[in-house]
Amino acid sequence: MAEFTSKIRTIEWIDTYSRMVDQTKFPDHFEYINITTGQQMFDAIKTMIVRGAPAIGIAGAHGVVLYAQELEKENLTREDFVKQLLEKADHIAQARPTAVNLMWAVEKQKEIIKNSKSDIKTLIEELKANGKKMELEDIEINKKIGDFGATVVPKGATILTHCNAGALATVGYGTALGVVRSAFANDPTIQVFADETRPRQQGARITTLELTMDGIPVTLITDGMCSYFMKKGMINMVCVGADRIAANGDAANKIGTYTVAIAAKYHNIPFYVAAPLSTIDTNIKSGDDIVIEERSHEEVTHINGKSICAKGVKIINPGFDVTPHELITGIITEKGILRPDYTESIKKAFEA
Ligand code: MRU
Repeated sequence: MAEFTSKIRTIEWIDTYSRMVDQTKFPDHFEYINITTGQQMFDAIKTMIVRGAPAIGIAGAHGVVLYAQELEKENLTREDFVKQLLEKADHIAQARPTAVNLMWAVEKQKEIIKNSKSDIKTLIEELKANGKKMELEDIEINKKIGDFGATVVPKGATILTHCNAGALATVGYGTALGVVRSAFANDPTIQVFADETRPRQQGARITTLELTMDGIPVTLITDGMCSYFMKKGMINMVCVGADRIAANGDAANKIGTYTVAIAAKYHNIPFYVAAPLSTIDTNIKSGDDIVIEERSHEEVTHINGKSICAKGVKIINPGFDVTPHELITGIITEKGILRPDYTESIKKAFEA
């Protein structure tokens, strides 16, 4: 299989700070920002300077290291240092509620904090090393997801995607767009249709940007257009990411994904979810238990700082929806493509 390399590195630990692409500046600027304190990291996750489930997981892991560096300066006893660091870790895990990768990665750091017998300085080095390891693993996992996913992409396919599950939602390469990258390496006739993804327009601002940077053909459509193009036979496959997948395969992803899945089912188009196992929350039985983030009303009432609606109109703005497992053709993971019955295939993937 041909290799495809994406040069985008969304987040990276450098000596004493975390460097990340500032995703609030797209599409006009592609800029990096250095995050040097735990609170700055909390704010970066909350305000979506960094976003996308796997990327905010790594951001959370880096955030724990930043808090540890700050606490080290306070000359605490080791016991107080550990106690306060665990509290800070819990704080950063709450920056956004839906993507389980954030809690998952912070939990990995908490395990180190709880189990290490080292002095404070060495413990901080252990946390840094663990963060770095998770960064590199994320890219490797995405490449595996990409290669498994490429096997189900029809020749010359047009793949519809929603939101951004690309290099910019992960450390690099991407999950759903990792599938696109791996498929494109072997078949440069494939192309992507990107849903705009209101309200924050991750499809328009981020997916079109990163695919264009890599020379992968992409066409931008608005969210309501997908059924129109499906009916015309212009979409061969849907591939999206996920923020949390329940034990029965129900998958939370950016608001609007569920609508796309229903349209795909109606038109007999395969609908795939691409995600690492760290996105699967086996503690929850179904999507009903997934907490859906409520976001600011201004995301709906305004575009680029300009109001688009009547003043005082009622607003409701859930950030995610849950696609029921019945609508999902397969879940593409680093362990292979999981198929229904998901309760069984998910259990097996964790045992393998
Ligand atoms: O609100 P966002 O931009 O963080 O939402 C991102 C998504 O919904 C992605 O599809 C999901 O996190 C998967 S990223 C590989």
